[in-house]
Amino acid sequence: MDKFIVEGGNPLRGEISIKPAKNALLPCMAASLLTGGKVTLSETSNLMDIDSMCRLLQHLGVAIGGRPGGALSFDASEIGTFDAPYDLVRKMRASVLVLGPLLARFGKAKVSLPGGCAIGARPVDLHIKALQALGAEIDVDNGYIIARARELTGAPVFFDKVTVGGTENILMAAVLARGTTTISNAAKEPEIADLGNLLISMGARIEGLGSDTITVEGVNELHGATHSPIPDRIECGTILAAIAITGGEAVIKNADPHHLEAYILKLKEMGADIVAGEKQITVRSTCALRSADIMTAPFPGFPTDLQAQFMALLTQAEGSGTVREEIFETRFMHVPELQRLGADIRLEGNLAVVRGMTPLKAAPVMASDLRASASLIIAALVAKGRTEVNRIYHLDRGYEHFEERLSALGASIERIRG
Ligand code: EPZ
Repeated sequence: MDKFIVEGGNPLRGEISIKPAKNALLPCMAASLLTGGKVTLSETSNLMDIDSMCRLLQHLGVAIGGRPGGALSFDASEIGTFDAPYDLVRKMRASVLVLGPLLARFGKAKVSLPGGCAIGARPVDLHIKALQALGAEIDVDNGYIIARARELTGAPVFFDKVTVGGTENILMAAVLARGTTTISNAAKEPEIADLGNLLISMGARIEGLGSDTITVEGVNELHGATHSPIPDRIECGTILAAIAITGGEAVIKNADPHHLEAYILKLKEMGADIVAGEKQITVRSTCALRSADIMTAPFPGFPTDLQAQFMALLTQAEGSGTVREEIFETRFMHVPELQRLGADIRLEGNLAVVRGMTPLKAAPVMASDLRASASLIIAALVAKGRTEVNRIYHLDRGYEHFEERLSALGASIERIRG
């Protein structure tokens, strides 16, 4: 298993360009199942999760051209099976996104239940309920979701809780359903709008993207399209935290600051000097940071996917700050590892109280999930000595060559293959 050795103390400086968003690419790849035409994503990221989705689509019979990291094209004209097996789904929960498209185009799908993961139980009951509202017959048997529908029919869908994947699944099902679907309490994440824009360019009729009510007028069929995905706001936020904690200064290109407003406001409140342009962000963090309080929330709130990275930053800010996790049950697995580096963090249920400005000292630590890995690396960038970050395969799921990108900004970070 690969690990990183990070030597703390270097301020990050320079220029970096953000990669395409993992969480936009994955649903867009699943959307290729909705048509026999060719769907091309003009840019992708070279990530383990993208490989996993390619493997699942290939298993279903999709012909894939190009390579992760460059353009990728998907031809789902000949689908051989409608079965997403446990072995493929358990590696990546977003695999459940093939359910809506398979059901909508072929009237059948068998998709393994994804199971829990390090950040919580993460059920898919809301996906199932929404598809049932469109007329799908769904059984859950032997760990599989078995779905059938002679024809999906548009209907009102109300999500009891905001769900990103649930909104994406129902959106992809509704575009080929007969009649009108209204999705209420829909997720407003930029990745949903990105998927919706791809679907529109494939011939779908969708209104209300970016709001909590999305209306879809079903069409008989969709055609191929070429789509350029949005930049990864979570990669951008992670790099912002890395620059800020080291007292660095950099220009982040190919970024969309509108996707990170709540996060950027918090960094500014802490004293970081941030200038948001149209497609770039300039950050300078040369004076001491002050603590702040955050609470995660669905978009446009503070993203749960940046909570762990922000907590690392709070360990180096003056005063006490609080982090309340409102989306996932157990998304504090990074806390004991940050404590190993010397962080002063107290947990009270879903609240973490971080007392700042504690000097961090190198120690071996272990990554437990994707964003927790990023948090540990951010902390290691200012820890005294050489921190060993183990199990970085979690990081490789969602950050392309993270060590090379941080090294280019001046960090001392090395991958040890093992
Ligand atoms: C997406 O996961 C992202 N993944 C996650 O990013 C992100 O943390 C999350 O949205 C929240 O922003 C992708 O886009 C591939 P949800 P998703 O459905 O869709 C509960 C990362 O680090 N819920 O919005 O699975 C659920 O348990 C990852 O890149 C139900 O109860 O998240 C959670 O508490 C991790 N029943 C809340 O809703 C359901 O049927 C929000 O989950 C569905 C969800």
